[in-house]
Amino acid sequence: MDKIQINGGRKLAGEVFISGAKNAALPLIAASILVDGTCEFTNVPDLIDIHSIRLLLEDLGARCTFDNHVMTVDGSGIHKIEAEYDLVRKMRASILVLGPLVARFGHAKVSLPGGCAIGARPVNMHLTGLEALGAKIDIYHGYIEARAEKLTGSEIYFDTPTVTGTENLMMAAVLAKGKTVLRNAAREPEIVCLADALSRMGAKISGAGSAIITIEGVPHLSPAQVTVIPDRIETGTFMVSAAATRGNVLIKGCDPHHIGGVINKLKASGAEVEIYDDRIRVKGVEHVRSVDITTLPYPGFPTDMQAQFMALMCIADSTSIIHESIFENRFIHANELMRMGADIMLSRANIAKVKGVAELQAAPVMASDLRASASLVIAGLIAKGTTLISRVYHMDRGYEAIEEKFCALGADMQRIR
Ligand code: EPU
Repeated sequence: MDKIQINGGRKLAGEVFISGAKNAALPLIAASILVDGTCEFTNVPDLIDIHSIRLLLEDLGARCTFDNHVMTVDGSGIHKIEAEYDLVRKMRASILVLGPLVARFGHAKVSLPGGCAIGARPVNMHLTGLEALGAKIDIYHGYIEARAEKLTGSEIYFDTPTVTGTENLMMAAVLAKGKTVLRNAAREPEIVCLADALSRMGAKISGAGSAIITIEGVPHLSPAQVTVIPDRIETGTFMVSAAATRGNVLIKGCDPHHIGGVINKLKASGAEVEIYDDRIRVKGVEHVRSVDITTLPYPGFPTDMQAQFMALMCIADSTSIIHESIFENRFIHANELMRMGADIMLSRANIAKVKGVAELQAAPVMASDLRASASLVIAGLIAKGTTLISRVYHMDRGYEAIEEKFCALGADMQRIR
């Protein structure tokens, strides 16, 4: 298994270009199940998770190509309605094929995604939403089976905003008969990207980006060409890396509107942040101030940036309180950061008290999930000595060409195979 070795202590400087967003590309690719024809997606990141969903669609009978960040998906040959365990277990987001399969074929069987390192991550709201649209749901032998001759529009209220839940139900409702209203819907930019794509395919959707999304069902959708939005979490990861190494980095090809929660907290920590149309410059300062964060659904501070921000707070001037309110077990990186000399106290209520230390020390550490691995990379970049991060396959699921991008900014980082 690959490892990443970092000789820490270098300030990052230069420019980095942001890739397309994994979490926007995945639902777009799943949405092509709804279309009898070929959709084309540009700015698709070259990542393990993208290849996982491509393999899943090909197993269902779709024909896909991927070249130079352009993916085409021809859904006309889809003949299978079952997403098998071996494909779903590799990536939880495979649940995104459930809504489109029932919408188009009236029948879907998808392996029930299990929990993952960061939490139990149930899909109950995806299922009650589909039931509200008239699907009959059965769960047996580890599979979800959904059947509906024709889905019918309905009012759906989410107990809490769910990103993939909102996406699944939007995709199910676009071909349903009549009107669907999703209330307390997720408002993430990835939802807006999907709604725009579905609209280009001929769907009638309004309100995406707000808590109430209205969908008027249409009889069929047509192929479309769609560009994936820039990855706001990759953007935030480079922003925090620049601040943590006291560097000066221009982050290009991003959307600053999508990362306001992180910009706000970085400024409060003392970093200089300059914002342009599609670029952000972050200049780190010697004296990092401790700031508190609470993760929240968009537009709040993203849970997917909590681990990286914690790495920065490890070298801040006083104590930072970090509250993870989305996932119940998303502090595994804290124990690894402590092995690097961080002073962190974890409490049961998903709160971490991070007391800044003068410096971190290099150590062998282990990544537990995608964003935890980014946190350890940032810690490795600031620590004295050589840090060796194992289980970096987590990182390869969501960060494209990560060591190339960091090395171009002056990091001393290499992959050990
Ligand atoms: N939840 C339920 N029931 C459901 C669905 C969700 O209780 O039916 C709970 C979850 O357990 C969690 C909260 O609702 O406590 C929000 O979870 P959400 O459903 O929004 O998460 P998700 O859709 O499974 C997406 C991203 C995650 C990101 C979260 C939160 C994709 C493919 N994944 O997951 O991304 O952390 O939203 O923003 O879009 C990552 O990229 O590293 C990542 C984990």
